[in-house]
Amino acid sequence: MNITLKSPSEIEKMREVGAATARVLEMIEPYVVAGVTTEELDNIMNEYMQTKENAKSADLGYQGYPKATCISINEVVCHGIPSQTKLREGDIVNIDVTVLKDGYHGDSSRMYIVGHTSPRNELLCKCAQEAMYEAIKTVRPGSNLADIGAVIQKVADKARFSIVRDYCGHGIGAGFHEEPQVLHYRNNYNVILQEGMCFTIEPMINAGSYKCKVNRKDGWTVTTADKQPSAQYEHTLLVTKDGVEVLTLRKDEDFPRIISN
Ligand code: MF3
Ligand code: CO
Ligand code: CO
Repeated sequence: MNITLKSPSEIEKMREVGAATARVLEMIEPYVVAGVTTEELDNIMNEYMQTKENAKSADLGYQGYPKATCISINEVVCHGIPSQTKLREGDIVNIDVTVLKDGYHGDSSRMYIVGHTSPRNELLCKCAQEAMYEAIKTVRPGSNLADIGAVIQKVADKARFSIVRDYCGHGIGAGFHEEPQVLHYRNNYNVILQEGMCFTIEPMINAGSYKCKVNRKDGWTVTTADKQPSAQYEHTLLVTKDGVEVLTLRKDEDFPRIISN
């Protein structure tokens, strides 16, 4: 396996692009309202990355992907393609952005609730966020990548939700998707973490079955097989000498940027 360890100068670039990625998700928040199309949101973010962050979308053109961001509503699990679809009151929406700046990638996503939604939808979003946060807390040199899946499994089981198995987190750096794969369910993929590794944790939690299907027409849009809703949060992380740094942390979050163990 080829897991890259980032040098101090690479870590500085990962911090820069991570901060820019966080700002995209902060900037777009007031625009996520009923009536806006996901294409309008995509255009605003694409423009912002280029003009305000001196960066670009890593999604656009990635394996032929047609847009700058992924916007996934309700039963869409991930890779929702921005379109003329308008957001509606009560929708739960994931916006996932991957920014490329100075040769390095930052990848993060969060849920936005359009107005008010059902208690079940709220719990689902909270569960995905808590699963990600609890998993981040396990990250330090010497810990095992499998601990991440174990913790997420505990959080999802407790809420009686399911975990998507078809998509996982990933190493990140000069490459968008680097090794290792980060599984979000209980597993035996034993990899010991080392200082300088960067990877994402991005659990997708389903209200019903874990099963997903990919839209056959567009080749991208992933929905739950049972049409029940799905929620996801994602951060890009750095393994530090004694813990973890959340490179894509936003101002709206009640979570530490740096955890030292
Ligand atoms: N951002 C996604 C991830 O978390 C990947 C999106 S690839 C795209 O890994 F082509 F769909 F944009
Ligand atoms: Co990712
Ligand atoms: Co992403």
